[in-house]
Amino acid sequence: MAHNITLIPGDGIGPEVAAATQRVIAAAGVAVDWDTQNVGAEVALKVGTPLPQEAIDSILRNKIALKGPVGTPIGKGFRSVNVTLRQTLDLYANVRPVRSLPYVEPKFEGVDFVIVRENTEDLYAGHEIMILPGIAQSIKLITERGCTRIAEFAYAYAQKHKRKRVSAVHKANIMKLSDGLMLDCTRRVAARYPDIESREVIVDAAAMTMVRDANSLDVIVTENLYGDILSDLGAGLVGGLGIVPGANIGERYAVFEAVHGSAPDIAGKGVANPTALIQSAVMMLYHLDEMAAAKRIELALHSLFAGRRVRTRDLGGTATTTEFTDALVKLIEST
Ligand code: NAI
Repeated sequence: MAHNITLIPGDGIGPEVAAATQRVIAAAGVAVDWDTQNVGAEVALKVGTPLPQEAIDSILRNKIALKGPVGTPIGKGFRSVNVTLRQTLDLYANVRPVRSLPYVEPKFEGVDFVIVRENTEDLYAGHEIMILPGIAQSIKLITERGCTRIAEFAYAYAQKHKRKRVSAVHKANIMKLSDGLMLDCTRRVAARYPDIESREVIVDAAAMTMVRDANSLDVIVTENLYGDILSDLGAGLVGGLGIVPGANIGERYAVFEAVHGSAPDIAGKGVANPTALIQSAVMMLYHLDEMAAAKRIELALHSLFAGRRVRTRDLGGTATTTEFTDALVKLIEST
C-alpha cells in the first residue's frame, strides 16, 4: 500500500532537491501518494499567509512530511514558517546525524555523531520586544517539561542506536537559571540510563571539540539556538550543507528536512546537491519501517561517493542536480 506523505517543496533550491528525492524514493521501490503543499514567500503574496491552513491540515492528516527549505525574511516580514510548523505540530526533537561520506572531506574522515536539538523553546522561539526605543529584548524561555522530554528523547535515541555517551551542551556557567534548569533535567533523566555515559560540555568548548574530536561527543543534547549553530559546524566537518540530513520529531507527527536553507545564490541553476534531502528521506523511510529501501539508498549513496566521479559543484565536481540523481538512481536500480 502506498504511504500518504505531505511534500513541501519549499523555496529556492527546494523544488529542485525535492524532485530529485522523489525520483530516488521511487527508484528504491517505495510507493508514495504525495500530497504536495506550497508554502513560503510566493504563497504569502497570493493568499496572505506563508503557511496556509491546508498545508498544516495535510500534515495533521498524513502524520509525515518531507520538506524542502523555506526562506525567512531577515529583520522584518513574516515569522519563520519553520519555527511556526515546529511549534504548531509540537515537533520537539530535531535530530541531525553528522556522518562522513567516502572521500568528501579528507580533513575530517570518519565523523559520526548526532545532534539532538530542542526544537520549540529558547531564544529561537523568536519572542522579542522593544522595551524602549534603542533597547531590544529577546526572551529565552526554557521549561522543565521541554528540557526533560528532549533529554528523554536523546537518551532513548542513544540506547536504540547503540551509542555510548550523551553530551549535554550548555552555558550554565553564565545562564545559571535557564541552562542550569536544562542541566538539572538532563541529570535526572541520565540517572535512569546507567549504561549510557553522561557528559556535560560548555557550548564554546563543544564547538572546539567538534573540530578536534567530534565523535567523542557521540550524542549531543542541547537547546534550540546552540543546536542550530552547532549543526552548521557539523555540516562543515563532513562536506557542507549539501550533505547533512535532519528530522523534526514529535509525539504524533514527523517532518523530515535537510539542515540547509533555500540557497538563493544557486536557486534555479540546477546545481544544488540533493544529498541532504535524500539522506533526510532515508531517515523518513527508517521511520516508516521501510528498512530495505532505506538501506538500498544508503548503500547506493556510499558507492556513488566512493566512486569519486559524480559530484555536485559544492563538493568540487561538475555534475548538475539531474546528473547526480541519474547516477544515483542507476546505482539503486542495479542493486
Ligand atoms: P543556506 O543553507 O540556504 O545557504 C548557505 C550556503 O550553502 C550557500 O552558499 C548555498 O549555496 C550553500 N548550500 C546550501 N544548501 C546547498 C545544497 N543543497 N547544495 C549546494 N549548496 C548548498 O543558508 P542561508 O543563505 O543562510 O539561508 C537562505 C534562506 O534559507 C534564509 O531565508 C533562511 O532563513 C532559510 N533557511 C531555511 C531553513 C529551513 O527551511 N529549514 C534552514 C536554514 C535556512
